Amino acid sequence: MARKHVVGNWKMNGSAAAIDEVLDALQNQSFDASVSVCVPYPYLGQAVAKLKKSAIRVGAQNVSEYGDGAYTGEVSARMLKDIGCAEVIIGHSERRRYFAESDAAVAAKLARLLEVGLFAVVCVGETLAERDGGRAEAAIESQLAPLRALMARGASPERFCVAYEPIWAIGTGRAASLDQIASMHELIKRHLGASFSVLYGGSVKAGNASAILTLPAVDGVLVGGASLDAQEFADICRAAA
Ligand code: G3P
Repeated sequence: MARKHVVGNWKMNGSAAAIDEVLDALQNQSFDASVSVCVPYPYLGQAVAKLKKSAIRVGAQNVSEYGDGAYTGEVSARMLKDIGCAEVIIGHSERRRYFAESDAAVAAKLARLLEVGLFAVVCVGETLAERDGGRAEAAIESQLAPLRALMARGASPERFCVAYEPIWAIGTGRAASLDQIASMHELIKRHLGASFSVLYGGSVKAGNASAILTLPAVDGVLVGGASLDAQEFADICRAAA
């Protein structure tokens, strides 16, 4: 049975001191789950160095859809690989909302990551209006379309996963219900393959992680706020055993 996958998304939080504090607390712990922490760009090198003897992997929270070159301010997939990143979150709803990232841009980022061999965590999720309006499935199917196209052109399902993050559950303390999570994960697996890995994200805490991770269609979790607390994040990782 494949290991569950726990990804910590620090978002635009933290400091050099916080990297040392949290990763010192995590680095000597061993988990049955596959665990990664995705920290802001400035702290990636420090996190890689801190975790070099740990099984915990380091990830980034974004990547350029372009390769190297005249793209001021951008960070390429090659650079992330070069400094020791193992995986990258792309298409997070906050990037789609605040930085107008399109489904096409997300697919281009995915292609860049696949080119250099970095594992991608591709976020999809519906708004509260889509959920309340009965359009949640349609919204997710639309976001999956570019991923299906890439798979039809040979992208390996072992090289990326999807994180289902209902936007209305992010940062609210109100996770989706177990039925909602199961239903949407099963929808995604119907589109991408029954064995395709789907993580859940949206107010995952130590108190609800075990119930969520016990669902057969849940292959792991993408954790925001709780990943900044070493003890709670470790508890979530242990719930993924
Ligand atoms: O990427 C994970 C994040 O969007 C979920 O945030 O704070 O609800 O766990 P949070």
